[in-house]
Amino acid sequence: MIASSPADVRTPIAAQQPLPTLRLVFLLLGGLSLLAGLNAALLLLDLPAPLTGARLSEMHGELMVFGFLGTVISLERAVAARRWWAYLAPATLGLGALSLLSVLPVAVGQTLIVLGLAVLNLTYVALWQRARADEVAIQALGAVLGLGAAMLLLGGVGFPQTMPWLVGFVALTIGGERVELARVGSPDPRLRQAATYLSVGVALSAGLALTLPQTGVRVFAVLTLALVGVLVTFDVARKTIRMTGLPRFSAACILTGYFWLALAATTWLWAGPLLEGPGYDLVTHSVFLGFALSMVMGHAPIIFPAVVRRPIPYHWSMWAAFILLQVSLFARLVLGDLREVPWTWQVGGALNVAAIVVFLLVTVTRAVKR
Ligand code: HEM
Repeated sequence: MIASSPADVRTPIAAQQPLPTLRLVFLLLGGLSLLAGLNAALLLLDLPAPLTGARLSEMHGELMVFGFLGTVISLERAVAARRWWAYLAPATLGLGALSLLSVLPVAVGQTLIVLGLAVLNLTYVALWQRARADEVAIQALGAVLGLGAAMLLLGGVGFPQTMPWLVGFVALTIGGERVELARVGSPDPRLRQAATYLSVGVALSAGLALTLPQTGVRVFAVLTLALVGVLVTFDVARKTIRMTGLPRFSAACILTGYFWLALAATTWLWAGPLLEGPGYDLVTHSVFLGFALSMVMGHAPIIFPAVVRRPIPYHWSMWAAFILLQVSLFARLVLGDLREVPWTWQVGGALNVAAIVVFLLVTVTRAVKR
């Protein structure tokens, strides 16, 4: 998703790549999954929503993690890989997630998602052949976890049991990208090696969490915390936060993203496996909203132009979506889930939805106006 490097997306776009129109279609699939997931989120909060239906709320997790994040991640990786077949990943992930809402059996959509993630894994093989770098290995480990999670879900394992795999998928994909960008500010190879070894540990402990949940989830949490520590230590965001405009905005998103991932890991370390209730909501959304969505907001003005060849000039209104997301996450996760203050969970959740809608409106408006 968010990975970009001198070696891939920033190079002139090769002639054999599909036209941006096709990429826009894939991006639209991811956008539709996000909108359907937000609709489902309102239903899960017991709030009025534009569309209703039991299947919609049941598919919230799949729509968000695979339909939205998976499609966007694999689209960006396909652009970087410059292979036509790599675009099969965003196509099957987007279509697979949306078909979960159709009359087709759920297994059809889940199988398409497995296929999409298998293609994403092959895309990393192609990227590895081009550059045998730590960051590619870390992101590839993330994709292996994503594929594993999709196969577990297809095999009937529940979302809560699969959570370390899904968290690993997102954390290692984004973490690998930060390692890549850190080359600019911190040439020390030991930090990159430390991030790689920790990522291998994170991936292995996700497997352990499935068989020995009490131990596995805590080992996963310790290693994730250590990984966050290493990433923060050499992330360029610590320097660019002192700049102005887009660099400062992106840095604020990235540093707050790390905070939310660390909060999720700390909660797991303290409480062990959380399969339902406020603790489950806290861990899930610290990672997927606090970490992943903050990172998406911070990287969108950089990555979006590389994917669809349309600039998104920085504008102060980007801060509105970011601040609304952070304040609403604090209300929902800290006041609602941790402190159990009445109504803050529901109001915070509704404002989470509003923050993402504001982010989409600002991004699309800036792209159209440029
Ligand atoms: C934007 C506002 C959002 C709201 C209001 C929201 C709300 C919810 C609620 C109420 C649940 C049920 C929690 C429980 O069972 O205890 C849930 C589950 C979940 N959400 Fe969200 N969510 C949002 C965004 C996201 C995003 C962006 C992602 C991922 C990128 C995501 C991923 C998940 C996952 C994986 C689950 C677990 C699904 C399951 O156990 O079946 N959510 N969400």
